[in-house]
Amino acid sequence: MMFSQVIVDALNDQINMELRSSYAYLAMSAYCERMHFRGCARWLRLQSDEEYGHAMKLFDLLRDRGCKIVLKALPEPPMDFASISDVFEQALQHEIAVSEKINAIYELAFREKAYAAAPQLEWFLTEQIEEEKTARDIVAKLNMIKNDPAALLDMDRELGSRTPGED
Ligand SMILES: [Fe+2]
Ligand SMILES: [Fe+2]
Repeated sequence: MMFSQVIVDALNDQINMELRSSYAYLAMSAYCERMHFRGCARWLRLQSDEEYGHAMKLFDLLRDRGCKIVLKALPEPPMDFASISDVFEQALQHEIAVSEKINAIYELAFREKAYAAAPQLEWFLTEQIEEEKTARDIVAKLNMIKNDPAALLDMDRELGSRTPGED
């Protein structure tokens, strides 16, 4: 059974959302580079790559179902932040918004009988639990650290140890 136009539109919108995420994390990475928090910058850049990968998963799903892929314009992401804490607080809020989008598409997929999309969307549901948890943990640590320079540098080093390909 072919996907209905409604579900194709929703999946194309989600490709745009994942690419927006990629772009937003890249902007956050650029800000951290500017502030000389190279570890945070590295973590965010790898996160940007990961978000690009999310977009490609949906791209491939539409391709495999023979649906038309439509790439829409990306808005300019915010380039300026109040602090490193602000960066990760915004990342957390962004991930919460993405989770809501995924939930809505999952519900839509069932309504539209697009059962073939369910496994991929379930992967995204699980991924969003992880994304929110990771962002929430970093925000909590940064709130504890406040402006303690030694602790901030430790945190920067910890985030900088992220390796490519980690979820
Ligand atoms: Fe994502
Ligand atoms: Fe992830």
